[in-house]
Amino acid sequence: MTASDPGSRTPDPAGRAERLRAAARELSDRNWIESAAGGFHLPSAESYCSFFAWDSGWNVIGLSVVRPDRALRELQTIFALQETQGPMAGHVPHEVRFPNLGRRDGPARLALIWLLRKQYDARGRSRFIDPPSYLLAAEVLWRRTGDARVLELLPAMERCLDYLLRTRDRFGDGLISLIHPWESGCDSAPIFEAPLGVHAGGRLASARREWRGLRLYHWLDRCGWDVETIARGSRFLCEDVGTNGIAAAGALAAATLADAAAEPDRAARWRATARGMVDAMERVLWDDARGSFFPRYDPQRPTLARRTCANALAPLMTGLVSPDKAARVVDGFLASERHFAAPWPVAFNSREEIARDGVPFQPQALWRGPCVWISMNWIAARAAARAGRADVAEHITERTAELVDRSGFREYYDPETGRGAGARGFTWPALVLDMLETHGPDVAALAPAPRVH
Ligand code: GLC
Repeated sequence: MTASDPGSRTPDPAGRAERLRAAARELSDRNWIESAAGGFHLPSAESYCSFFAWDSGWNVIGLSVVRPDRALRELQTIFALQETQGPMAGHVPHEVRFPNLGRRDGPARLALIWLLRKQYDARGRSRFIDPPSYLLAAEVLWRRTGDARVLELLPAMERCLDYLLRTRDRFGDGLISLIHPWESGCDSAPIFEAPLGVHAGGRLASARREWRGLRLYHWLDRCGWDVETIARGSRFLCEDVGTNGIAAAGALAAATLADAAAEPDRAARWRATARGMVDAMERVLWDDARGSFFPRYDPQRPTLARRTCANALAPLMTGLVSPDKAARVVDGFLASERHFAAPWPVAFNSREEIARDGVPFQPQALWRGPCVWISMNWIAARAAARAGRADVAEHITERTAELVDRSGFREYYDPETGRGAGARGFTWPALVLDMLETHGPDVAALAPAPRVH
């Protein structure tokens, strides 16, 4: 047993924060990699030996508390991997395979990568996008360290947003469309069943959805990964709430950095972008009868996929969602035991829905069934705080700290029992350090979000 995998150790709330910090430092040493493109943390040295962009964004946020030097280097690496030329200029790859690192992967993962090798270009860079958590990371790192080198990344952040909004606005409403569920980072989440054309619950639906996901993947390859060609023929195109909420909050992060760089016009541009994205989400992704946001798919016949998962909280991070809607999402879902308020919050999938639809837990199909992912807890706490519910943010934070302290730094957890699952020595749970500093007991509530004038 190691400090980062404490198993059944008895919790000691008094020393918990320090214990978590010590475990995160140790894990940072274990997962830190010096690559040709720069330093970064692997998601898990045992299970995922690639660079994953949204993972790195979460790593920067969590480890900025105990390793601000590495956090800055990781943020610089993310943008060093950004495409600089051609039609994909501004694209930050979802994943990058480094040949020397690949040798560390186990046989099962190597087989999977071989099967899915077509997404990588000759430099090992995936053509997929992902939710730009790294934009939020830049703001967190800037606020925490005030290091001027973070401000130097503003142009790269802007290129990233420009790329997403230029190439992925497939419904013409200012929101980003995904071309495959994997781009959401929430791979096999039930929200993608309807967009993939799978409607039944249970194990059969799960198998069919994996098959459809693979078929879609190979079709994208036949399109040469050209988004224009894909957009002409795909019914999957999906406005994911998590991706758009994170991107809108990312636009506000760019505005914060532009203000810090004394560039008010740039700041105003990104505030207006965030405002426009939130307005669009309220217009086209909001279901007033249910009181939440849902993803939308198929530009020919736009349809909401009415499955309830916690990435619906992401737009609230902007502080721009109208107060009545934000309150409905927090009270009706985040704080409701029917949905996300499990004994170990935050249940990623609605408890009521997965019980009703018989969505079983399957370790090989991530983000299905009962599961807690610490990136979503970070989003949920921030969303609650922005909606004026510091009490909810603090509760999630304390339970998350207890969970990680008891069950170790794991890929995900069981919301009913708190048992850790998936990869061990997983870097994301370091996010709890930022949660403790931001929403923990004795911390003043977040400053009000900037408003657009
Ligand atoms: C899984 C997760 C994804 C993550 C990756 C590396 O595919 O679903 O969100 O980026 O592993 O940790």
